[in-house]
Amino acid sequence: MSIIKDLEKDIKTIVEKSGYQVENLILQPSGRRDLGQFQLNDAMNLARVYKKSPRVIAEDIVKELEKDNRFTNLNIAGPGFINITLTDEYLGSLLTKIYEDKSLNIDKKEKKTVVLDYGGANVAKALHVGHLRSANIGEALKRLARTLGYEVIGDAHLGDYGRPLGLVILEIKKRYPNLAYFDENYTGDYSDIDLPITNQDLEEIYPYASTKSKEDEKYLEEAREITFKVQNHERGYYDLWKRVVEISKADIKQVYDMLNVDFDLWLGESDAAEYIEELTKIYEEKNVLKESEGALIVEVKEEEDTSPMPPLLFKRSNGTISYETTDLATILQRKKEINPDEIWYCVDARQELHFDQVFRAARKVKLVDDKVKLEFIGFGTMNGTDGKPFKTRDGGVMSLKDLISLVEEETKKRINPDTVEEEKRESVAKTVAIATLKYADLLPFRGTDYIFDPEKFSDLDGKTGPYLLYSTIRIKSLLEKGTHIKIGEITKFKTETEKDIALTILRLPIILNKALDSKSLNDITEYIYKLTSLYNKFYAENKILTEEDPKLQKSWLTLSKIVYDINIMLLNILAIKVPEKM
Ligand code: ARG
Repeated sequence: MSIIKDLEKDIKTIVEKSGYQVENLILQPSGRRDLGQFQLNDAMNLARVYKKSPRVIAEDIVKELEKDNRFTNLNIAGPGFINITLTDEYLGSLLTKIYEDKSLNIDKKEKKTVVLDYGGANVAKALHVGHLRSANIGEALKRLARTLGYEVIGDAHLGDYGRPLGLVILEIKKRYPNLAYFDENYTGDYSDIDLPITNQDLEEIYPYASTKSKEDEKYLEEAREITFKVQNHERGYYDLWKRVVEISKADIKQVYDMLNVDFDLWLGESDAAEYIEELTKIYEEKNVLKESEGALIVEVKEEEDTSPMPPLLFKRSNGTISYETTDLATILQRKKEINPDEIWYCVDARQELHFDQVFRAARKVKLVDDKVKLEFIGFGTMNGTDGKPFKTRDGGVMSLKDLISLVEEETKKRINPDTVEEEKRESVAKTVAIATLKYADLLPFRGTDYIFDPEKFSDLDGKTGPYLLYSTIRIKSLLEKGTHIKIGEITKFKTETEKDIALTILRLPIILNKALDSKSLNDITEYIYKLTSLYNKFYAENKILTEEDPKLQKSWLTLSKIVYDINIMLLNILAIKVPEKM
């Protein structure tokens, strides 16, 4: 149990000794630091239960608290708010404990197995800005949940089974009609075939084919037929598709690497295909499939619905499998292969209806146990400074690689040429660019849209990735310069700033749990900024390395080490790497 929880428990016991029972005692950080460090608001509620004035109850509690020499400056404000301050000695001892054992500043959750569906890149299409948030938020949630004791299996769930695949294969066929893949009489091994297509070609082929299909009905029909062939594993077409997936996957991996994102499973929609037959059987047996204009649908509307809830499209009239059905088949697959307690989907908020339909259809036939939680973790859009979805200068969709380069142009300008050797500058600029993007992306509550301004977010000052990196590197350098000083104990404070740092450190477990409960990283990004700014204030106010009081110096360096370790841990959760120097 964390130190802060332990302290709450102790205070709860003291309150009980004074004659009152509280269900769930919470030590609030005080808004009025001149009155106390913590505030206890329970007297108001107790007044109702015990039919006494809150003031009298507060006085009873304070009397009991006063017997405990860990507390000081106990006072009652307003109708009965109890203000509590910890003695310097006690506060210091708590921090020393955290220095000795980091696990005392964390509250693990009950163990659970979670499949986290994030990333969601589409094969044969360049990763674009729309995929950034899923990668960033998903990766950080995975790391956070693991830190808190969950077993999390991250799955990229590649989009490799829909219409785009038909379009790409069709366009390849038009350009290279003589490829053996299209030769019905070919009986050899396809892996020997020289495929004249690179990932760069694919990035051009898909948009071309997509535009063409919108203007040319016949072309679209041909693409549909090919999609059907691939989905039915027709020799040649299916084999070509697999090759395309491999080419594309290698490139996708490279971009995810740049973002420090990695998956345990690289499965795609197509991997769930082998479950479609079984899935269909389940739906048939439960009698929930309905025919509608040649297609098969599942009604998912419920009486209480106030907004439209269209039926789920299970199978199109042309026989191709829908996005909804691959998601249902994937649930079945995950249940059979992993049997998780929860499945989380970190996907654009605009897909909420889709997941509503899928979850309802899954519940309808009990595809998973009722107690298995299916959770949609939707996120808002990243907009440009014009308030519209981030675009290239000519209005096109910006690829992730281009976005990263664009930010790198900004961060390059801010690398200090005196500290970073020339040959390392580019790689440092890259690391800082990723930090810039990620921190900005994780700063707002995940559900809200936000504006990404590359210049503002790469600033070395303010709520930015570079500010945090810079500050963290500076603490490290201080610790390195002070290695001759023995650290390990906090016995003294000089100013309120240091105590604020100490109190902020104690709140870490609450922040981590809150972030996981809301499945959003904003509490963590705000917290690390707060801790770092407090620390920088302290750093500016004092000359740590030349301090003459050995006890104070030791306390300061120990505090610095705790802050440094927390920053590193949190940046790691956010999947932000720290360069050596910048
Ligand atoms: N590939 C999809 C897209 O780009 C996202 C996949 C999300 N995950 C899922 N299980 N449907 O829109």
